[in-house]
Amino acid sequence: MVVAGAVFDEGRLLAARRSAPPELAGRWELPGGKLEPGETAPQALVRELREELGVETEPGERIPGEWPLAPGYVLQVWTARLLSGEPSPLQDHDELRWLARHELDSVDWLDQDRPAVAEAARRFPGE
Ligand code: CDP
Repeated sequence: MVVAGAVFDEGRLLAARRSAPPELAGRWELPGGKLEPGETAPQALVRELREELGVETEPGERIPGEWPLAPGYVLQVWTARLLSGEPSPLQDHDELRWLARHELDSVDWLDQDRPAVAEAARRFPGE
């Protein structure tokens, strides 16, 4: 399983542009990664966001749904709140962008992330 984070801060959602592998490079995703043995999804999410972006986060709710990836993998998405740090593209990504709700269509999301982003859009804080 792969877990990704819908990271919200100041009314914006964090989008990350992949730098690898070549077939995914340039496409945007909700940052995350594969669960390691023994991890829960929220634990994996906190670890992945720390490794990939250098931030500490608190997982919130799971966004309903499960999206197929490569054979044997499915994507689950959780909301997450930024606790500390400023996200930077340390691993897997070459650009980050904070998107307001009306800007969500301005980046080329990975196909499998699109339904999750649409669900996440309904969870913008304060709406
Ligand atoms: O960091 P780790 O190797 O654990 O995982 P990753 O390479 O970031 O993601 C594993 C797989 O999940 C990749 O094939 C990604 O394309 C996919 N993925 C995705 O489709 N959508 C996301 N939001 C995050 C990962």
